Amino acid sequence: MNQNNLPKHISIIMDGNGRWAKIRGLKRTDGHKKGANKVREITEHCAKIGIKYLTLYAFSTENWSRPKLEVDFLIKLLNKYLKEEIKTLQKNNIKFRVIGDMSKFSKKLQETINQTIEQTKSNTGLTQILALNYGSQDEILRAMQKMKDNNLEISKENLEQNLDTQDVPYVDMMIRTSGEMRLSNFLLWQCAYAEFFFTQTLWPDFSDQELELMIDQYQNRERRFGGI
Ligand code: FPP
Repeated sequence: MNQNNLPKHISIIMDGNGRWAKIRGLKRTDGHKKGANKVREITEHCAKIGIKYLTLYAFSTENWSRPKLEVDFLIKLLNKYLKEEIKTLQKNNIKFRVIGDMSKFSKKLQETINQTIEQTKSNTGLTQILALNYGSQDEILRAMQKMKDNNLEISKENLEQNLDTQDVPYVDMMIRTSGEMRLSNFLLWQCAYAEFFFTQTLWPDFSDQELELMIDQYQNRERRFGGI
């Protein structure tokens, strides 16, 4: 891995928790628990190697259609993760941020999210962005509505300033685990020039080593941004 040519922004579709659990005869929720630990591990590693932005797809606008028990579990897990995470974030100088429509979550969860943002706002290392109740089409529509409400003209700059990812650079590397090769409504606008990486590895089995191998590959790809 070349320290001079690191991707600035990595995003990950963390897929395969359910399958990971099933193979082991465990409950799907056990897979999510393991997945949450992996979030911590990979986030710390990204901070350590000098990545500036890491965006993780934790809960999509479509995930509400899962069985209520699983949805409730995921939300509880998120609450628990945030409460326990603050120490890790501070220790590693990580700034916390979210994208998505938070208004659907309980007041209590919104409060925990806002506290975490507030407590880490002066950190200057990695920015960890959790996508929660996030869907890219929903984000673009909300941005367009805001532009309309503020009488802003239609321009790339105005749209980008009204996306949830305001002031975050475009995605350099998009990773999806578990063998699926889809974007599933994640960062459609922001992935305009992203390099894509797909692995069969299920999210709970993903590792710092595999991430570094992908970064090696990224550094060997030629990015032309439409030029020659
Ligand atoms: C995909 O596995 C995983 C998700 C629904 C979202 C990711 C959630 C986590 C990593 C855990 C919670 C995260 C935080 C930040 C606390 P899947 O259920 O779709 O797996 P499957 O395709 O094998 O069924």
